[in-house]
Amino acid sequence: MKEISANTNPSIPKEEFYSDLVDQINAITEDQTYWVTNLSNASSVIYHGLKSLEHFQKKPINWAGFYLVDPKNEKNLILGPFQGKVACTAIPFGKGVCGAAAATQTTQLVKDVHEFPGHIACDAASNSEIVVPIVKDKRLLGVLDIDCEEVEGFDDVDRKGLEAVVKVIVANCEW
Ligand code: SME
Repeated sequence: MKEISANTNPSIPKEEFYSDLVDQINAITEDQTYWVTNLSNASSVIYHGLKSLEHFQKKPINWAGFYLVDPKNEKNLILGPFQGKVACTAIPFGKGVCGAAAATQTTQLVKDVHEFPGHIACDAASNSEIVVPIVKDKRLLGVLDIDCEEVEGFDDVDRKGLEAVVKVIVANCEW
């Protein structure tokens, strides 16, 4: 496995952080195709990488991981590899933030989860959330979900950076 060490400078600009994160995730996933393996390492790199940033030390990340389309019920998401506290195992399309990202195939950037209709509170510490759909050839495969303990944890730089992360993951896995 090729390794690129994480940038440990906590005050690095977020754009630069995400460009490094994309390279790092590419390096740890390009020699493997099994999605369980790649999503496991990706959730670790994303969670610990974001936690190391100054921005997220003020606004701590408390959960980062994946929900996949359930092969036994294609209108449900099922819990995949993640970092953080125990989470709900199944989410119907259209329910909560993850379900909205799945149903619309668009990124959901939620400044205050308590204002989001149907938000599913897995961890009471979560106050804001970003969910990026994982789509290949117009087919939904799952979502990347990240929670933050403060409101307004995420912005458009995070959205662009995490959409680029998802692109690399889609390209490097067999689905
Ligand atoms: N809050 C999410 C559910 C998943 S947990 O955050 C891990 C939602 O409303 O979709």
